[in-house]
Amino acid sequence: MKNKINFLDLGFQPLANNYLRKNQLNKKEKKYRLKIGINTNTKLVSINKPISSKMMFNNKYPYRSSMSKTMLKSFKNLAISINKNLKPKKILEIGSNDGSFIKNFSKKKVIGIEPCSNIEKITKKKGFNTYSLYWNLKTARELLKKEGKVDLIYSANTISHIENLDEVFKSINILLNDNGTLIVEDPSLLECLKKNTYDQFYNEHIYVFSLLGIENILKKHNFEIFHVQNLDIHGGSNRYFIKKKINKGQILSSVNKQRKKELSYGIQKISTYKKFAKRVKSSKDELKRIFSKISSKNKKVIGYGVTAKSATILNYCKIGKGLISYFIDTTKDKQNKYTPGTKIPILKYQGFIQKDVDFVFLGAWNFQKEIFNKEKKFIKRGGKFIIHTPRPKIL
Ligand code: TYD
Repeated sequence: MKNKINFLDLGFQPLANNYLRKNQLNKKEKKYRLKIGINTNTKLVSINKPISSKMMFNNKYPYRSSMSKTMLKSFKNLAISINKNLKPKKILEIGSNDGSFIKNFSKKKVIGIEPCSNIEKITKKKGFNTYSLYWNLKTARELLKKEGKVDLIYSANTISHIENLDEVFKSINILLNDNGTLIVEDPSLLECLKKNTYDQFYNEHIYVFSLLGIENILKKHNFEIFHVQNLDIHGGSNRYFIKKKINKGQILSSVNKQRKKELSYGIQKISTYKKFAKRVKSSKDELKRIFSKISSKNKKVIGYGVTAKSATILNYCKIGKGLISYFIDTTKDKQNKYTPGTKIPILKYQGFIQKDVDFVFLGAWNFQKEIFNKEKKFIKRGGKFIIHTPRPKIL
């Protein structure tokens, strides 16, 4: 693509959420070359060759946002603040997953859009007004006819998964009232660079947004950011509060503060990304060293939380079932399957870490606090965690 400079090559990667069944283990897995680049005009950072939405988000999608207390709490707090401060009459969530956010509102008030029909069904069954559709112009026009305009649109960890951002915001423009609010929440590029969390890049995360990058797209569509919140969610996310330009509201100081933080870190400079790529390579070498040292001592290592992010780490660092005996995870649709590419068995979380385990690789490092709280017994008996951020270490 014109104006795009690639700065990081994460090698051949499988689809990050494509957990394998036993009978698929001997079949050849589809892999693609994962390269990351920056558009020098827009400053948007993205993966090289996005896979089609239909291949990634379909009726077999395993991810459930309700699997973490941290997420549930974050959605609940946001819902309380929305009701108190913005008082919308009608709300739309783009990418409503299993309803973790919309369940905080009265059923009459909210609409959920979720393309993965296996998950959309869960929310619909609870009596919510949901549609199994992809977010695009067709959907926006259809919804406008059926539901009319809305006062608030919320989308967490979804917009960064859609390649055509122009269509995303054109579609939002159609459905959002002129004095309405759009709230977009996604992992923060600044945090990703600072924490060396290169695993934010996988096939579903087409973009990792900075304020600078997303602003450049928003302004094309006559939107502007009036407030930014930095969240701990997913290893550091930004929640952007956005309005239509024709709506003359106040721009809060948080926007300039974020812009300054990004500029002073050098988010606009190619050299920043080149340095990041070097750090990623060292991180890989260091993580491999840690694993080989432990395995030479015959210690039992398992993984905790099979994340799409960890697929990037395991495949990039070539850490497979010789080094990690199995993963444990609370998500039913991941259990009794195998990790993509590396084929490590995934077992059901039994409520504790088994007694014979010495080390736990934290796939869900973004829920470290929640998991450490839960696994006090393991920590007390001397069990150790392996984490790759900000640099690989044993905790
Ligand atoms: P997440 O980081 O949200 O995913 P991704 O990188 O795919 O966006 O996934 C967290 C995974 O960890 C999810 O499969 C649920 C699992 N998990 C546990 O098994 N136990 C826990 O206590 C927590 C918090 C998560």
